[in-house]
Amino acid sequence: MSPAPRLVVLLLVARIAASQTLSNAGRNFTVVFPENIAYYYPSDARNKIWVTALHNDTSVMVSSANSQLNAGQTKSFTVTQELGRLTINETNASDPFKVFNISDKTVHITSNKDIIVQAISSKGRSTQSVLVIPTTKLSNKYFIPPVPEIEGTTSGASPVANVTERAPFRLIIVNPNELKASVTIKGGEEISIDIESGSAAQIWVKNDNKTWYVEANKGVAVFFSHPCAVQHQCTCGLLHAMVPPAKNNTMRFPIPPVLDQPVSILRSDKETRERITFGSSSAVVESAGTAIVYWPGLLLTLVPVEEFGSCFVVQFIEGKENILIIVVNKNHQQGIHIGNDPLEGAEWQELKGTEYSSTNRSISSTTVVWHAAANMTVYQIYKQNDTWFGNPAAVISANPDFRGCVSTPEVTKILQEAESWQESIRSCKNQTLDLISLPSEALQKQTCQNLRGNDAKQVWIGTRRSSLTGDWYWLDESDFNNTNWAGSEPGDVSEGQCAVMSLEGDGDCGWKDRNCCEDARPLCYAAPQILQIN
Ligand SMILES: *[C@@H]1O[C@H](CO)[C@@H](O)[C@H](O)[C@H]1NC(C)=O
Ligand SMILES: *[C@@H]1O[C@H](CO)[C@@H](O)[C@H](O)[C@H]1NC(C)=O
Ligand SMILES: *[C@@H]1O[C@H](CO)[C@@H](O)[C@H](O)[C@H]1NC(C)=O
Ligand SMILES: *[C@@H]1O[C@H](CO)[C@@H](O)[C@H](O)[C@H]1NC(C)=O
Ligand SMILES: *[C@@H]1O[C@H](CO)[C@@H](O)[C@H](O)[C@H]1NC(C)=O
Ligand SMILES: *[C@@H]1O[C@H](CO)[C@@H](O)[C@H](O)[C@H]1NC(C)=O
Ligand SMILES: *[C@@H]1O[C@H](CO)[C@@H](O)[C@H](O)[C@H]1NC(C)=O
Ligand SMILES: *[C@@H]1O[C@H](CO)[C@@H](O)[C@H](O)[C@H]1NC(C)=O
Ligand SMILES: *[C@@H]1O[C@H](CO)[C@@H](O)[C@H](O)[C@H]1NC(C)=O
Ligand SMILES: *[C@@H]1O[C@H](CO)[C@@H](O)[C@H](O)[C@H]1NC(C)=O
Ligand SMILES: *[C@@H]1O[C@H](CO)[C@@H](O)[C@H](O)[C@H]1NC(C)=O
Repeated sequence: MSPAPRLVVLLLVARIAASQTLSNAGRNFTVVFPENIAYYYPSDARNKIWVTALHNDTSVMVSSANSQLNAGQTKSFTVTQELGRLTINETNASDPFKVFNISDKTVHITSNKDIIVQAISSKGRSTQSVLVIPTTKLSNKYFIPPVPEIEGTTSGASPVANVTERAPFRLIIVNPNELKASVTIKGGEEISIDIESGSAAQIWVKNDNKTWYVEANKGVAVFFSHPCAVQHQCTCGLLHAMVPPAKNNTMRFPIPPVLDQPVSILRSDKETRERITFGSSSAVVESAGTAIVYWPGLLLTLVPVEEFGSCFVVQFIEGKENILIIVVNKNHQQGIHIGNDPLEGAEWQELKGTEYSSTNRSISSTTVVWHAAANMTVYQIYKQNDTWFGNPAAVISANPDFRGCVSTPEVTKILQEAESWQESIRSCKNQTLDLISLPSEALQKQTCQNLRGNDAKQVWIGTRRSSLTGDWYWLDESDFNNTNWAGSEPGDVSEGQCAVMSLEGDGDCGWKDRNCCEDARPLCYAAPQILQIN
């Protein structure tokens, strides 16, 4: 057998695997809130977990390794909506924050199907939100961001594991594993700690120019946090962000114009750890670690181009101004949708020195944001009185699709064995797929695009004509209106009652009628699942 067919399968697997790697969805999460030890802060912590189900009938369990939480005992919730938004009970939807009062504990969330998780913390007038990385995507290496310059918060102490009030920035390191994790902070004077299963440790971050990093013998979660950073006029504000794992390669992070302000960028990797004042010649920063936008009150983790996706869930928070910021290649400003509506009348701003552009939009409900043909990134930021907070929107997938926000990608698969049209139907069925029907021009184009570079020359598609009337039919019973016949095709009935699609050259995948008993490889298909939020 020629090696070529094997290649097809590999490419397909790679495509699906890539989208799953990028997604923020998972079934196992551990959350920690900005700890609650700064008691002089004169109000209770109000913390909340948002769980968004991507599939129907999702059971979600929220539990804690430490039973001292006021809420969050092991409980099971069944989410029956396509997109269920789950507020942990013992609460009240119109009073959304009073969930986990004691917050220096970890909270474990598991589910039987993919979910996304956001954690929101509030104290006094200050609120922070993080998009929680699923346990399976945690890493054992993180570069520690530089510390923003905030008066009264950066004392320049050595990193120590006993954190007290009015302390510098800290890392909160969480061990979600069943076994103890050994964690070492490296870069200068090393310190090592063991973290018990389900526990969190806090470590001060030294404000120097050394490239500090966290290394663990297991995947751990790392939060960069301050419980009481002075915002203005002596007010206390939370700062809390999840540190993204160290990356193997240098990546490019386009910087959207956030708030029209000269924000700073906290950048760290193994080469440098620095605060960059943004606003100069180029709206892009490179890093193999972290790049975080800082503006008083706001820590916004940037997303590198390599991790752009095509479908996002944007969470609406009641009582705040909700803004989403989109960054996309300037050639792909068309095709963006918010819910079911195309994004119209957007004012685009080019990001200097890059091929990217950015726009923003306010929203009034939780929604999906998706691109029909390209990848992009979306940030959600919120304004509460005069301070901002926010995080990257949850990526659901990186499979642009003209039908909407893909939660489970479509499957397009050319089987290896060439066989008759009838046999092809069966062979596809054996893989729980269907011989493809291509009733719409958009699907024809997308399929052709996805199969570009494929080695197969001609593949069976799911159409056949009546020998009595000569009319063509799709196997899935869609109307046969939008056709893509090649050149002078189709011929008359005597030339054949089935059809192949040609994948030769850079062609447009035109169809040709064929004798159904000839052999060709089947093109099998399963439609994607589209996530909708109403
Ligand atoms: C989920 O349930 C809704 C309402 O019952 C239904 O309309 C929708 O098709 C279901 N979605 C999936 C992916 O099964
Ligand atoms: C949670 O609260 C909702 C509304 O108050 C209620 O309908 C539901 O049964 C509760 N679920 C559990 C598991 O207690
Ligand atoms: C939920 O909170 C609102 C406003 O705080 C209150 O009016 C309502 O009675 C509460 N409902 C329950 C079931 O506690
Ligand atoms: C939070 O916990 C503290 C101490 O246990 C308690 O005094 C306070 O009433 C709690 N607040 C809420 C909103 O449950
Ligand atoms: C916002 O400011 C107003 C008055 O300036 C105040 O009454 C309100 O409590 C503030 N809201 C929050 C969430 O801090
Ligand atoms: C914190 O740790 C340092 C050494 O790392 C020690 O000298 C100090 O006494 C500790 N403080 C507390 C409050 O435990
Ligand atoms: C969640 O992940 C942790 C760490 O990998 C593992 O110990 C635990 O068993 C997982 N829980 C579930 C329900 O998968
Ligand atoms: C870090 O480096 C910058 C410039 O290289 C210097 O101005 C600054 O003083 C250094 N900070 C510390 C804490 O060493
Ligand atoms: C980086 O490379 C290591 C070793 O090849 C691999 O285990 C890890 O998954 C990679 N990390 C990322 C983020 O790609
Ligand atoms: C949204 O875009 C407008 C116009 O570019 C800009 O003035 C505004 O500051 C942006 N809003 C945010 C929150 O970044
Ligand atoms: C979107 O991103 C994924 C993952 O990086 C990639 O496999 C896919 O080809 C991209 N799609 C487009 C249209 O750029």
